[in-house]
Amino acid sequence: MSEPEYILVSIAWPYANAEIHVGNITGSHLPGDIVARYHRLKGNHVLMVSGTDSHGTPVTLRADAEGKPIEEVYKRYHDGFLDLFQQAGISFDLFTTTHTENHFKVSQSIFLALLKNGYLYTETRPQWYSPAAKRFLPDRYVEGTCYICGFENARSDQCDRCGNVLEPEKLLNPRSKVDSSTPELRETQHYYLDLSKLEPEVAEFLRERQSYWRETVIRQSLGQIESEGLRSRPITRDLDWGIPVPVNGWEGKCLYVWFEAVIGYLSASIEWAQLAGAPKEWKHWWTNPNAKAFYFIGKDNIFFHAAFWPAQLLGVGEQFLEVFAGEYGQPLTLPYDVPANQFMNLEGEKISGSRNWAVWGRDFLTRYDPDPLRYYLTANMPELRDTDWDWEDFYHRNNDELVATWGNLANRVLAFAVKNFEGKVPEPGPLTAQDEEILRTVEGGFASVGAELEAVHLRSALAEAIRLATEVNRYLDQTAPWKAIKTDRPAAARAVYTALRCIDNLSVLLAPFLPHTSEKLHSFFAYETPLFGKQATQQVSDGLGTHNVLRYDPDGASGRWEPSKLRPGSPLIEPQPLFKKLDASIIAEERARLGRK
Ligand code: MF3
Ligand code: ZN
Repeated sequence: MSEPEYILVSIAWPYANAEIHVGNITGSHLPGDIVARYHRLKGNHVLMVSGTDSHGTPVTLRADAEGKPIEEVYKRYHDGFLDLFQQAGISFDLFTTTHTENHFKVSQSIFLALLKNGYLYTETRPQWYSPAAKRFLPDRYVEGTCYICGFENARSDQCDRCGNVLEPEKLLNPRSKVDSSTPELRETQHYYLDLSKLEPEVAEFLRERQSYWRETVIRQSLGQIESEGLRSRPITRDLDWGIPVPVNGWEGKCLYVWFEAVIGYLSASIEWAQLAGAPKEWKHWWTNPNAKAFYFIGKDNIFFHAAFWPAQLLGVGEQFLEVFAGEYGQPLTLPYDVPANQFMNLEGEKISGSRNWAVWGRDFLTRYDPDPLRYYLTANMPELRDTDWDWEDFYHRNNDELVATWGNLANRVLAFAVKNFEGKVPEPGPLTAQDEEILRTVEGGFASVGAELEAVHLRSALAEAIRLATEVNRYLDQTAPWKAIKTDRPAAARAVYTALRCIDNLSVLLAPFLPHTSEKLHSFFAYETPLFGKQATQQVSDGLGTHNVLRYDPDGASGRWEPSKLRPGSPLIEPQPLFKKLDASIIAEERARLGRK
């Protein structure tokens, strides 16, 4: 066996002003979790982190509208996220928030390291100011006409039609998204990250990864840099909810929310190590040239993860540790892969939180189990192009694939074995060529499904595992132990033994996707240790107050990414069904719930 690897699984930080819907889950949280669980099963050292993106104007506007303190509003969403992730089995080693003392300190240290290295400069420039609201408007709250393609509903910082990142002050026909009033440009001083100076290094970083990154990601990072260059961007804002700029005389200004949110991957890793009582452990992932860092995000986040964050890391160079902890410097780990997903629509239309055209994660889980959600979202994951959540399709995939191909297979064979072989794995006697062949085929899944997971091709990984389940169903149709038991008991014993081993393997192959039911099935095989650890929330106090976190505890989990060693005679537990068959009426019910006319 090769040495365990250090795998950092970084997942996009959800904004603190909206609930999480299925499009968000399939876009970043679920793919990250699948990859993390796979690497844990394999025995690699996984650190999976994220948190609530708590700062910035959206949450302040929401608090204004509700007439509530910002802290209260951000925490309400944050606590909802913790609940959703716990229920859906999104197994963060740490899910925290950007509103922590630690994150403030880490972000300010990155800022100061960039300043020290000469990558920051100040400039006074015009910015959109709302005379009506008496405040500067963040770029995404100013809309107007894209100066590149003419799209009339472009955000000042980004155009959703042509996909370009825009220079906000060049927007045509500006209007405030808050109250539709017309903003004006006013002079204000800010720090800028000198991205043009970092461009050669960022381009080289991307070229080194070009061969294996998704084409859409390369196009929106390297492609854009090669055609337009990397222009400097302001990294401070006129705002008081956020992280203060750590320079005298800059009171009332904060670090730009994107500048500090991406730093969250590093600060959350540091907080995780502190909470684990081993404050330097984070370095295995962050100052180790062999560690692999994956970033799971949606396509609207590509620039910030594939260009902006690498630029920060390259600009900081070896200075972070020195500024942060007075320690000898080492460079920080650059992204290994940024497998960004496209979007998921709902019943043919773009998901929209504000129009309530969405399937909300927590609401879904009040009516259905988490694994059917994970199954459908993986089978339909927008890896290369946008996909669609369709209730009829959900119903069919649940009943025809999850229940019929997999759940019934597992239940039928286990229940039959418990009933006919005294609750034990039967003694098979010599296996036939047919038995050997199906065992070989399914065991091959550890390599074939593993290779797809390794490359973050999650749809094909799942399809391959389900294909193997179909093969086992075919094997059982041919060997028909339910009939053989009456006439040829040894043949039935052989087929049941073989099928049990296959099912034991399939439960592991499917475990990254379907952790709840695989764990249950694993327990029916009477294994003493579970496949995975457990998650729990915890309250943490610091100089800013308290915040709740979600932590995954791997203790006691056995993990396994290798073939079953199930022995004849080992005990089996009477199984319960893994999945529920859905009634066709849910299709109309759920569509009615959406309120489609
Ligand atoms: N809050 C952003 C979004 O939902 C994602 C931020 S990812 C981060 O689009 F790492 F930068 F925080
Ligand atoms: Zn445009």
